[in-house]
Amino acid sequence: MKRVVVVGASSGLGRCIALGLARQGKQVAMLARRRDRLDAAVREAGGGAVAIECDVTDETSCRNAVAQAADALGGIDGVVYSTGVITIKPLDQMDAAAWGKLFATNVTGAALVTAAALPHLAQAGGSAVYLSSISASGGPPWPFVGGYAASKAALDKLVEAWRVEHPSIGFTRLTIGDCLGGEGDSATGSLVGNDPEHISQAVAEWQRLGYFTGHFIDVDHLVDVTIAALHCGASSAIPSLTLVPRAPATTALLEK
Ligand SMILES: NC(=O)c1ccc[n+]([C@@H]2O[C@H](COP(=O)([O-])OP(=O)(O)OC[C@H]3O[C@@H](n4cnc5c(N)ncnc54)[C@H](OP(=O)(O)O)[C@@H]3O)[C@@H](O)[C@H]2O)c1
Repeated sequence: MKRVVVVGASSGLGRCIALGLARQGKQVAMLARRRDRLDAAVREAGGGAVAIECDVTDETSCRNAVAQAADALGGIDGVVYSTGVITIKPLDQMDAAAWGKLFATNVTGAALVTAAALPHLAQAGGSAVYLSSISASGGPPWPFVGGYAASKAALDKLVEAWRVEHPSIGFTRLTIGDCLGGEGDSATGSLVGNDPEHISQAVAEWQRLGYFTGHFIDVDHLVDVTIAALHCGASSAIPSLTLVPRAPATTALLEK
């Protein structure tokens, strides 16, 4: 597994995964819309990486970006779909545009990128990993993110459907809990653009329900797990993985 396309590499977890792959000597194509951020990530990767603009809500853009990536890397062994948007608001305030953006980005985009990469993945016996969320897959959907949870549940089913139709490719659903990402552009930007009032109401409700614990996955551990899923090789696959934050040992418990 040498040549990997990371979609959503301009920010947060995708950027961390792309840089982690580059650190391991992989050739990485970094895809997203914000060119300046991609260029900065490629500079940080220090060679063997390319920046390619891609808007996953545009079918032509997906096809062209994946073709450019395959040309630049000489093929594609792995795809990481880290692209995602979240809308934090009650369901009864979601309009058609909000629903459309969630599904176009989180679900349809994943299908379009996968379709474009499929011949390359099939030729390489490759793997694809899709970032999902415990807010959708780990139990009841979290309040205030019902639309997001519905889109991630659709993504989960999409990953299974690809596996049924193309069993020679490894398709992994990677369900994760809260992760802040890294520093600077590598920090998660997922809450940007949401109403601060809705965010504080949502966080209070998630804390009350015990969903939000204030513990976070170390992004380096997420990077390792993602790369391991890509690495299983043509003879095996990891259909699904769940990575959740672990509570640190408290001194109160240790002192007893
Ligand atoms: N952070 C968490 O705690 C957490 C928890 C569970 C699941 N997840 C999932 O993990 C993934 C990454 O989250 P994150 O926290 O890293 O979010 P983030 O920092 O907001 O990154 C999202 C990425 O998606 C890209 N993107 C958005 N719309 C796009 C479009 N139309 N075309 C192409 N790229 C697009 C953004 O790039 P551009 O804007 O430059 O296009 C950016 O690179 C998401 O799928 C998220 O749902 C995150």
